[in-house]
Amino acid sequence: MFSKKKRVERVLPRHIAMIMDGNGRWAKKRGLPRTAGHSAGSKTFKDIARYANKIGIKYLTVYAFSTENWKRPKDEVDNIMNILREYLKDAKNFKDENISMQFIGNIDVLPDDLKELISNCEEESKDATGMHLNIALNYGGRDELVHAVQGIAREVAEGRVECSEITEQLISERLYTKGQPDPDFIIRPSGEFRLSNYLIWQSAYAEFWFSDVLWPDFSPRHLEKAIDDYNLRNRRFGGV
Ligand code: IPE
Ligand code: IPE
Ligand code: MG
Repeated sequence: MFSKKKRVERVLPRHIAMIMDGNGRWAKKRGLPRTAGHSAGSKTFKDIARYANKIGIKYLTVYAFSTENWKRPKDEVDNIMNILREYLKDAKNFKDENISMQFIGNIDVLPDDLKELISNCEEESKDATGMHLNIALNYGGRDELVHAVQGIAREVAEGRVECSEITEQLISERLYTKGQPDPDFIIRPSGEFRLSNYLIWQSAYAEFWFSDVLWPDFSPRHLEKAIDDYNLRNRRFGGV
């Protein structure tokens, strides 16, 4: 006999944000240089982005490099930027995946060749109808808010915006993520329980998922488990 009980459909978070952390520790555990961890993490990123698109996630935001990561040794920073260059040069080959790509963060200060690769990549993928992928690069939530406040102050000074018109919605529209839904679900592997300046405005009502797994070991299986856990959450947004 078939059960009459209707199977409850799983809800997919519309927007998932991930903090790709733990590359260095992954490498250290294997006696490898930190750079090997970043290379492995880059492969994981490609696999997870592809998988998230395949299962129907609409927005994925990944933290690739923070405004604080410049504190690292120059060699490591150069290595991360080079991995990004290779990824961007390769990105054309992912066209068939139908993912639109956007870089969020203070891109202006990056080297010219990288900026050009980024704008080509955004331009070439802009008509894709599948998942929207945000790559947070030289991104800091506070830095993002500083830029937004400066922009709004300029608009007020020039008489284009009234003080009374500064609303939560207006602020959201001045962020890098303008026009996008806030993240529903933030995933941080690597055993840390903090946001590290990630999407601090947008995460006001996000659900969080933490795990000890180090980013290079993060697999579609972990993502599936996280989404299953998300389905057990009761999101109230301040209501009852
Ligand atoms: C995340 O891994 C990658 C970046 C921050 C660029 P880490 O490099 O922070 O790895 P851990 O935290 O040192 O293990
Ligand atoms: C957050 O990881 C930034 C990225 C993953 C790009 P960090 O490794 O920089 O964060 P902290 O320093 O542990 O908070
Ligand atoms: Mg880290």
